[in-house]
Amino acid sequence: METKMIIALGADHAGYEYKEKIMQYLLENDFQVMDNGTHSTDSVDYPDFVHPTAKAVSEDIANFGILVCGTGNGVAITANKYANIRAGLAWDVPLAELTRQHNNANVLCLPARYVPVEKAIAMVKAFLETPFEGGRHARRVGKMTCI
Ligand code: RB5
Repeated sequence: METKMIIALGADHAGYEYKEKIMQYLLENDFQVMDNGTHSTDSVDYPDFVHPTAKAVSEDIANFGILVCGTGNGVAITANKYANIRAGLAWDVPLAELTRQHNNANVLCLPARYVPVEKAIAMVKAFLETPFEGGRHARRVGKMTCI
């Protein structure tokens, strides 16, 4: 039986609509989704949706995480508090690819207020299709953890 890759999703009110469209893309493309909310555009606090997403990835319950807020920074800063989370902020496809190739990112953070949703979905696709390059980048990633 084929096991589907599990993608954990989290967003605040600014990222809610993007999260819904990203989820639709993932479900149409044979991924399994863990939707950690939020579930409307009502104002919320982004860390409440980052923690379950980052925890699922750090505990290997999900393969990757995708987080969306207005700038992408609040979710990235919160997710990167976890020792084995490497959350990369991207605003264009090459950056989404590079955070996999060079940083072995396991969480992609997207700025809903600064990129069109079509580009956000293109970044998700690129992120999930791009492998880590290893080599010298593995040495550098190995030096990241300080706790
Ligand atoms: C919410 O207004 C906004 O602060 C949030 O989505 C995010 O951009 C924080 O970093």
